[in-house]
Amino acid sequence: MIVPVILSGGAGTRLWPVSRKSYPKQFCALLGQETPFQETVQRTKSLAVNPIVVGSRDHRFIMAEQLRQVGIEQANIILEPVARNSAAAMAAAAFWQAQRDEEAVLWFMPADAAIEDHGALFVALEQACAAAKDDYIVTFGIKPTRPETGYGYIQQGDLLEGQENAYHIARFLEKPDAAKAQELVAEGGYFWNSGMFVARARVFLEELKRYEPAIYEAVAQSVQEAGCDLGFVQLGETAFSKAPSISVDYAVAERTDRAAVVPSSFSWMDVGSWDAVWELTPKDEDGNAVRGNVFLDHARNCYVHSDSVVATVTGVDDLIIIVTRDAVMVSHRERAQDIKHMVSRLRDEG
Ligand code: GDD
Ligand code: MG
Repeated sequence: MIVPVILSGGAGTRLWPVSRKSYPKQFCALLGQETPFQETVQRTKSLAVNPIVVGSRDHRFIMAEQLRQVGIEQANIILEPVARNSAAAMAAAAFWQAQRDEEAVLWFMPADAAIEDHGALFVALEQACAAAKDDYIVTFGIKPTRPETGYGYIQQGDLLEGQENAYHIARFLEKPDAAKAQELVAEGGYFWNSGMFVARARVFLEELKRYEPAIYEAVAQSVQEAGCDLGFVQLGETAFSKAPSISVDYAVAERTDRAAVVPSSFSWMDVGSWDAVWELTPKDEDGNAVRGNVFLDHARNCYVHSDSVVATVTGVDDLIIIVTRDAVMVSHRERAQDIKHMVSRLRDEG
């Protein structure tokens, strides 16, 4: 049995102004009819095991409603009183599951990745699960296509004994700087980390205890003190707040010697910014992608989205233009990553 764990606590600031603090990107339909959160849930359905969802207390009704819309009434929704990053969120799910079966294999996944080719995904998942049963913490390796600095890099080591397609991780390097990323891609033998992890609940917790005992203790206590309210699991607030805020990549993946990688061939993309949305949306012959109430003329390689007034765009190239009821955002496509700085300025100065 594999238990899916969906991490949906991200803020999604680079997808402002559609993605908002009260309604972040994983809950917004940016590509198809369904939201990234719902697509993630759908992807796990063939396992026939109710997912564990870990997210913010502030989004509990959004999560419950979006789950209901895709036919899941029985998810276990664990609510964080404050965001303490992915290591603590994963620990909450692992402790909760360990109370039932500590040997269960958990498939942790972000709520904001676009994955095509489910056949290849489930082949890789099976290979990951086999290695997880040998007490490894397993990642999925994606072939890098550019020296991206926002991802983790995984150097493939030797094949694990008795495994078909799971390798030791010689080195895990989270978010290298631009020079280092270039060096790693040129050198070869490195994968991107997909952000999904497969491990037994016990194994994940053992490694967390070893490298980040403060997270382990805080989250253990918050799960012990958890209350159940309207079917939601509410983590103990005082205890959970004490957990240091560190991502699982720095907390565990970079340090553990029980890490493994399954080189994977499914197509994968982190839907983290508007240029990723542009890439994933079907385009006209001039490379423009649009959503909503939009008219374009003499424009090339633009992404234009309006969910309110009509947006007309002419004579420009390589722009992202987003129109919502209360905000307009215009950016060069190459500057799409910088929107998060604008959002923090707005927060501080606005
Ligand atoms: N519940 C919860 N609570 N989820 C969280 C929290 C939190 O406090 N913080 C992050 N997450 C979730 C996010 O929603 C996302 O689904 C996932 O954990 C990863 O967090 P990100 O903040 O998006 O990480 P990242 O994109 O910078 O880096 C990770 O993903 C890359 C691939 O997209 C790393 O694992 C990289 O190594 C990896 O390459
Ligand atoms: Mg991410």
